[in-house]
Amino acid sequence: MTIVDKNLFIEHYGGIYEDSPWVAELAWDRLCEPGEVQSIGNVLAQCVDDADDETKLALIRAHPDLAGRAAIRGELTQESTGEQASAGIDKCSPEEFERFQEYNDQYHRKFGFPFVMAVRDSNRQQILATFAERLQNDADIEFARAIAEIHKIARLRLAALEQESDG
Ligand code: GUN
Repeated sequence: MTIVDKNLFIEHYGGIYEDSPWVAELAWDRLCEPGEVQSIGNVLAQCVDDADDETKLALIRAHPDLAGRAAIRGELTQESTGEQASAGIDKCSPEEFERFQEYNDQYHRKFGFPFVMAVRDSNRQQILATFAERLQNDADIEFARAIAEIHKIARLRLAALEQESDG
């Protein structure tokens, strides 16, 4: 689909990166520059990769915790609601739910940002196992991993959006 208006473009692609429409806004400006024709996914990803660390940190922090307060209150974006439900996170047992809370707290205390994982192809047990492993990492490794996971989430969101637009 080709969109010819900046506001419509931002409205359409603004949710690919969680609660961060600035990525779509920057991508629009780049797509309007003369040069090699690139896929929207690549241009969006490049805008994130070119951002400074403070901006990347804000992008990571725009993500809600898995099984966190926003999820309980039903305050997630439509995309995040679908992703968490696809991994069965909305159906945690009380023990699993408790583990998510413990890990979320430990992770925030250690790294200062939320645990981000592209969860669509995982189940609760796999996510909790990965969560425990990643809690052992150093901060710079986790920062880079969070951005890599955010790119994966974005690719999945973009594929879903393109399917919706085609269908
Ligand atoms: N993985 C897929 N979606 C999300 C999300 O909204 N938050 C976090 N923390 N991880 C995700």
